Amino acid sequence: MRNKVLVTGGLGFIGSHTVVCLHEAGFEPIIVDNLSNSEISALQGIEELIGYSPAFYQSDISEFPFLSKIFEDHEISAVIHFAAFKAVGESVEFPLKYYKNNMGGLITVLETMKAYNVNSVVFSSSCTVYGEPNQVPVLEITPMKEAESPYGATKQMGERILRDNASWCNTQCLRYFNPIGAHPTGKIGELPLGIPNNLIPYLTQTVAGIRKELTVFGGDYDTTDGTCIRDYIHVMDLAEAHVKAVERLIGNQQLGSFEVFNIGTGKGSSVLEVINTFEEINQIKVPYKIGPRRSGDVVKVWAETNKVENILGWKAHRNLSNMMKDAWNWQLELAKKTSNT
Ligand code: UFG
Repeated sequence: MRNKVLVTGGLGFIGSHTVVCLHEAGFEPIIVDNLSNSEISALQGIEELIGYSPAFYQSDISEFPFLSKIFEDHEISAVIHFAAFKAVGESVEFPLKYYKNNMGGLITVLETMKAYNVNSVVFSSSCTVYGEPNQVPVLEITPMKEAESPYGATKQMGERILRDNASWCNTQCLRYFNPIGAHPTGKIGELPLGIPNNLIPYLTQTVAGIRKELTVFGGDYDTTDGTCIRDYIHVMDLAEAHVKAVERLIGNQQLGSFEVFNIGTGKGSSVLEVINTFEEINQIKVPYKIGPRRSGDVVKVWAETNKVENILGWKAHRNLSNMMKDAWNWQLELAKKTSNT
């Protein structure tokens, strides 16, 4: 029998790709998603990729009775907890919404796990917990700085809650850098609601003619070309990291109850490098201008990946060109879907 893995937020960007990779690795994914920041079409994409309809619950994870129902229906071996709000700017505007959803959701997930004797969880954390680092690359032991936003604070607090529950709960805490790209088939990808805040969806929508022009936020930073540097990671590599983390939990290979890993490529790319790579691999121009800096942006951050490579046994394999190709392919597929409806 295949081990069942509950994926909260399983129809979201990272969740949907992880569901596919879990299936391919021999697990049975069980999805819960309230569709607050995702669409049911993601389920259709997953079905096309894995060849069957996985168990799906459209419900809110902050409701103990709903969540309990899933644990009653299935013998869950581990949980991957993605379901959370993730927009930095929105979290500044509506902090209570973020604290209530992100902390409340995690607490209910843990209470339900405890009630049903499930003691393995993978937690979606973020490199945002490091803030503006004093030196790059950042290591897992790099001290956290005060969070720049309520969103960042919820990730720091989430880590703390899990560490405080280490007596009964084993955690793989994955600190994602900048997840981008899409499944190479174009069947699943990122579905930003409204005007995108993040670079890649804004870029692809601009090239598709949905937005007029991409603004590069700041060209006068102390970096090689004046634009900010990030560690962009292909969502398929990231999804594969979750599979490794689940295997480690189920195989009882953890060195302690709470393990934390940076999930990045170890390589930083500037905004202009991203644009140039997109233009080169897809042979298409990106209309852009250099604009003012965006407040709250970290200047440069990328991951030190020795720990994740040596201990989790995971390494990113896809490069920036793969990410740009798959992101554009996904945008083209989306356009086809929209014109058919
Ligand atoms: N950028 C632009 N123009 C845009 C959008 C973004 O130039 O229209 C630039 C940003 O200034 C930044 C880079 O592109 O230099 C990446 O920005 P994103 O908004 O795509 O990503 P961030 O690095 O700001 O944020 C991401 C995740 C957060 C996470 C954070 C951690 O979206 O969830 O990384 O640093 F918290």
